[in-house]
Amino acid sequence: MPLILCHSPKGGTGTSFIAAHLSMHLARQGHDVAALDFTYQDTLKLFFGLLPTQALAEFHGGGSALAVAGVELFSAYRLSREPDFTEALRRGQSPFNDGKIYIADVAAGDRETKDLLLPHAQLHVCTLLPQPVSLAALTKVAAGTPTIELPNTAYILNQLDDTHRFSRHTHIFLRELVGDQLVGTVRRDEAVNEAAAMFEPISKYAPASAALADIRTVAGQIEARIGLNANVEQLS
Ligand SMILES: Nc1ncnc2c1ncn2[C@@H]1O[C@H](COP(=O)(O)OP(=O)(O)OP(=O)(O)O)[C@@H](O)[C@H]1O
Ligand SMILES: [Mg+2]
Repeated sequence: MPLILCHSPKGGTGTSFIAAHLSMHLARQGHDVAALDFTYQDTLKLFFGLLPTQALAEFHGGGSALAVAGVELFSAYRLSREPDFTEALRRGQSPFNDGKIYIADVAAGDRETKDLLLPHAQLHVCTLLPQPVSLAALTKVAAGTPTIELPNTAYILNQLDDTHRFSRHTHIFLRELVGDQLVGTVRRDEAVNEAAAMFEPISKYAPASAALADIRTVAGQIEARIGLNANVEQLS
């Protein structure tokens, strides 16, 4: 079963938001899902409606943990600094082969963990914003490889606002640049922040919100792209 790596070369683009909702979508579709927060910041859980003070179980290359919305939630920051773990990954040993789908949330600045996990990932999900600083970071998605030559990368344009010209133009530009590797867009929606402020998942706080509808569509596209929906159909 796959590892899906969520990482963007630019921080604050919505990587954690996307990782959380991709996890919840896949769990709702009947997959066995574990979400791994590899960040020191430790904010993935906020998008599940948890409190900042709520500690997550440490990931030890397996095991089970508290499940929220059907997703097992782990902190993996400490483990990503343990030499035994990093060496095993470098040797090609994968702790992600136990039948679950693993979603990894990796901080923008943590290139080391991103490079460590990438060879084990079936898909790299890269979240972008309709802002010049986010687009400028496109050349850093994979150092030395042109953005259009990364077939295992799926892009999501987050915080899209069609009332703004730069936002619309970014959408057109990305569609031309990466084609259907742009798996979808998510509208800018204050309900995302309000839900986190209320310590509620957006599905409970604002079930009719634009961002929730969009992220579910995008998650469905990613599920189809890596053939996971076919697996569920075969099982049922
Ligand atoms: N579609 C959206 N509409 C409005 N706000 C959003 C949307 N997506 C994310 N946000 C908000 O943007 C901020 C950044 O999101 P998030 O924490 O997921 O980004 P990140 O890329 O993981 O950031 P970091 O680099 O700090 O880890 C958060 O405050 C989040 O609530
Ligand atoms: Mg984050």
